Amino acid sequence: MAHLLVLYGTSEGQTRKIARFIADTLRDQAHTVDLMAASEFEDWPSPDAYDAVIVGASVHSGQHQAAVQTVVADHRSVLNRRPSAFFSVSLAVLDEDHHEEAERYVSNFLDETGWAPDEVTTVAGALRYTKYSVIKCFIMKQISKSSGRPTDTSRDFEFTDWDQVARFVDRFLQHVESPDTERTPSPQSTSTP
Ligand SMILES: Cc1cc2nc3c(=O)[nH]c(=O)nc-3n(C[C@H](O)[C@H](O)[C@H](O)COP(=O)(O)O)c2cc1C
Repeated sequence: MAHLLVLYGTSEGQTRKIARFIADTLRDQAHTVDLMAASEFEDWPSPDAYDAVIVGASVHSGQHQAAVQTVVADHRSVLNRRPSAFFSVSLAVLDEDHHEEAERYVSNFLDETGWAPDEVTTVAGALRYTKYSVIKCFIMKQISKSSGRPTDTSRDFEFTDWDQVARFVDRFLQHVESPDTERTPSPQSTSTP
């Protein structure tokens, strides 16, 4: 049984929902899991206290949450010595034409933080029209229209592929449960769903 950290950043809640799903999946496999929002901590506990770490963040205007970026950059040397994984939540990942864009968000994040996780995945997020401000709702509707996504602002749309997230957790656990296996961090190779 490992002591694991799931750390996340979210703006509208979808990454928190995914992080909770990941934490529950890990607990179902008898691991001890701390689930934390990066923004809620001034004195973030060192990843040294954990056997392995999963970090998730969502993309807004091409960037992941600054709080997550700060925590990861501050603790990169420990993260690089532990089994670790990153999931990036966006909508670009939904479109074949924009898939490279979703991967670019990730490689920028990893370049800027100096972190080389063992597993990386890009996950489709959600359109939460009912939670957006009027202006945000208008902007997201225009973007959705041009991208061929739903434009009915009276409801929310979730695109997250939960089976993909479960497979990501399985791959992460292989690194946790096989500590003798040599880890080969590959920040440039984002796994496909
Ligand atoms: C204001 C705003 C800006 C966004 N910018 C991007 C973007 O640049 N690229 C992208 O792929 N998705 C973008 N998205 C989509 C979000 O990544 C997606 O809605 C995700 O589910 C948000 O996760 P969260 O609820 O955890 O914050 C944006 C969403 C909003 C509301």
